[in-house]
Amino acid sequence: MLDFPIPRIIAANLKRRSRLRRTLLTPHFPDTPMSTLAPHSDAVIWMNGQMVPWADATIHVLTHSLHYGSGVFEGLRAFATDDGPAIFRLEEHTDRLFDSAACVDMTIPFSRDEINEACREIVRVNRLKTAYIRPICFYGPEGLGLHAKGLRVHTAIAAWEWGVYLGDEGLEQGIHVFVSSIIRDRVNAPLTSSKICGNYVYSAVATAQAKNAGYDEALLLEADGRISEGSGENLFLVRNGMLETPELGSALDGITRGTIMEMAQEEGIEVRETRLMPEDLMNCDEAFFTGTAAEVTPIRQVDEQIIGDGRRGPITTQLQRRYQDIVSGRSDTHRHWLTYTRP
Ligand SMILES: Cc1ncc(COP(=O)(O)O)c(C=O)c1O
Repeated sequence: MLDFPIPRIIAANLKRRSRLRRTLLTPHFPDTPMSTLAPHSDAVIWMNGQMVPWADATIHVLTHSLHYGSGVFEGLRAFATDDGPAIFRLEEHTDRLFDSAACVDMTIPFSRDEINEACREIVRVNRLKTAYIRPICFYGPEGLGLHAKGLRVHTAIAAWEWGVYLGDEGLEQGIHVFVSSIIRDRVNAPLTSSKICGNYVYSAVATAQAKNAGYDEALLLEADGRISEGSGENLFLVRNGMLETPELGSALDGITRGTIMEMAQEEGIEVRETRLMPEDLMNCDEAFFTGTAAEVTPIRQVDEQIIGDGRRGPITTQLQRRYQDIVSGRSDTHRHWLTYTRP
């Protein structure tokens, strides 16, 4: 028997909606290191093939993608290794950027190789030891009709040192997650599951809800109540020694998700992609988020529900360590996932 009736997470979530409206109106002041961009004085951003001083990398106010969310982007990390910074799964991220662009009928005016090389160069030129890398492609300001035909496609790649997304303590102790009232939709997948700028309004509002209400991160459901993903992460549960993750629908096909699934299988841990409901959080042993920014972050509590022992569990720890070993080049396996930024 469960400790309390199954619908409690959902009921609590519904009750919270009026409270949420209040928290949404509360001004949110960024307070985590992730919210702050503090480039050094000679930092540069790659824009349309040129290195531009950070402060000059600006766009026109009538930029089409600013108005309609029609840009596409990626988020990558370069990790410190003994051979200098190495970008994790660069080619897969660049492929996903091109896939997202295809979803918005955008032709990126650079080749995959040129984008890959620019990602390496931006880390190198900015003399970064570790980096978060943000490529973005967007339609310019030459016209503001919805049809973007004929508009110039701009491409920019920025890189900066970004600490642990959900905090060092989160990585060690686990985070407290909030089930958001914002609904993710699978009707137009793959459009809604691509890294298209406009899609991120759901994640941004869900994150504001969670932070304003004192939680660390938001979990979003689909219209039928099934779990989709975190605002910027995929979800995994551990049950009876096995990993479970929501099957892809509205959720992004995360590169870290794929990495964890592959690593788990190598470690002899069975992985199942399935339909997961909030109730499944009540009787799982461990839960964690995965993402380029969030890496492998344990979840210690969802709403009022303590997960497992309320701290990072053994399988999460095992996969987190393995992930860290691979991204930092300490493992002998999967070295082809690392692209070194040094020439
Ligand atoms: C909505 C969303 N889900 C999941 C992820 C995790 O994807 P990845 O592991 O490729 O970073 C991200 C991060 O990009 C995201 O924005």
